Amino acid sequence: MTRRLTGFQPTGHLHLGNLIGAMRPLVAAQATPSIAMIADLHALTMEHDPRQLRANTLQVATVLIAAGVDPQRTAIIANSQVPEHSELHYLLECATGYGEAARMIQFKEKSAASKTVRLSLLTYPVLMAADILVHDCDQVPVGDDQSQHLELTRTIATRFNARYGQTFTVPEGIRPVNTARIMDLADPSRKMSKSTPSAAGRIGLLDPPEVIRRTIARAVTDTVGVVRVDPERQPGVSNLLAILRACADREPGPFTSYGVLKREATDAVESVLGPIRARYAELSEDPGHVRKILAEGKAWVQPRAAETVRRTRAALGL
Ligand code: ADP
Ligand code: NA
Repeated sequence: MTRRLTGFQPTGHLHLGNLIGAMRPLVAAQATPSIAMIADLHALTMEHDPRQLRANTLQVATVLIAAGVDPQRTAIIANSQVPEHSELHYLLECATGYGEAARMIQFKEKSAASKTVRLSLLTYPVLMAADILVHDCDQVPVGDDQSQHLELTRTIATRFNARYGQTFTVPEGIRPVNTARIMDLADPSRKMSKSTPSAAGRIGLLDPPEVIRRTIARAVTDTVGVVRVDPERQPGVSNLLAILRACADREPGPFTSYGVLKREATDAVESVLGPIRARYAELSEDPGHVRKILAEGKAWVQPRAAETVRRTRAALGL
């Protein structure tokens, strides 16, 4: 039985990369039992504003539904609301080496960039392992930036099974098909990301049409003057083409100039984001409905999570 988990950080600023790289594959694969998990516990690893976090969690849930994630087929949860995540996290910490956590690239980068480092930043990948293992997931769609964490999950699960007896399903990482890595429009050498401080190169999923138009109009291109896919020499143009291909429902072009490319990309992005924005506005009128969906998601997944924790405790002699 296949079961997938896809995680989303509730850090605000959901962008076109999240939609193309994670939400649309989730929607496309809804015949496969899946969990869409908002990682609000992970948000506590860095300085955060409690009110903002609560709002962001609800916003991500609302955007997921607006983008077509069907809560009848995909359980939408926040990991803080299913306490089995936290309990398994601690149990797995006791099966993980300090060195294993400390050598995670994301920990090294994030801890180097901040003055004070929370202990939870170090153990974040162990929480991620708990997020996956607690639901017996066997498939996890991963981008490059998460593959080291998934490897650690597999190591922890395999070693635990060998030491304490068969307890966990060891998950496989899968690459979502038909997706592109979307780059920052202002700096196409790096991926479009929520964590980039400047929004100049990011297309937000809820950006109004005028902002989308301006962001694409200002996208960095080059002086080659030919529209073609050449990520080495023409990263900006290649990225605009990737965005256009992902959003248009017909083969784009021909392009007589970069201006034409940008206009077509703008129309294509708007054709995808317009309906999401409208649905989001509708759903936002009734936040209680979205909270209820989160509560139903929790009720749906909790029995299995509780069973995994029970098995783990028993294996450990608790
Ligand atoms: P971010 O890096 O913006 O903080 P997350 O880490 O929350 O985004 O990632 C959520 C999902 O979106 C992951 O599955 C990730 O692989 C995908 N994703 C993030 N950025 C991009 C991008 N620029 N292009 C394609 N997919 C992306
Ligand atoms: Na990320």
